[in-house]
Amino acid sequence: MSTGTTEGDEARPTETVTLTVNGEEVTREVEPRLKLSDFLRTECGLRGVRVGCEHGVCGACTVMMDGATVKSCLTYAVQAEGLEIETVENLADDGELHPLQSAFHEEHALQCGFCTSGFVMSAFELLEENSDPSRDEVKTALSDNICRCTGYHNIYSAVERAAAELAVDSEERS
Ligand code: FES
Ligand code: FES
Repeated sequence: MSTGTTEGDEARPTETVTLTVNGEEVTREVEPRLKLSDFLRTECGLRGVRVGCEHGVCGACTVMMDGATVKSCLTYAVQAEGLEIETVENLADDGELHPLQSAFHEEHALQCGFCTSGFVMSAFELLEENSDPSRDEVKTALSDNICRCTGYHNIYSAVERAAAELAVDSEERS
């Protein structure tokens, strides 16, 4: 730990953190109190990470950490030391939207879009674990995410549509 950042006359301790963000190693000197959500937005410029409640309630800040979703507003950047973070920015492949992103568009599953990246990341985790979820399983998987301005029905339909499209893709590859 070093003494880097200052606020007023008071020196605040900092720590070096190194993590992998969307496939790239990132090293920064940060205050231990810096949240992962703020780290990703301000240090990495990843504005798809949304900060809503900052209390772990709305799910807007959801990202993957070593293959499992976390609320990045409840995680300190230093806790991600040595780990792999994936944000919604990493889902598109060579400019082509991920089937989940396309399905949200096709099913009209977003209005303002503030919550969308969090929903997409939670749905991404679900489809990694369960390629053919029932409606109840989709609802359970998304129960930690809150949308204020569109119907959940369309969001659930978007996840089911993406699951079907991913199944076709994997059949075509086999
Ligand atoms: S901003 Fe993290 S759960 Fe709401
Ligand atoms: S689309 Fe506006 S909060 Fe969900």
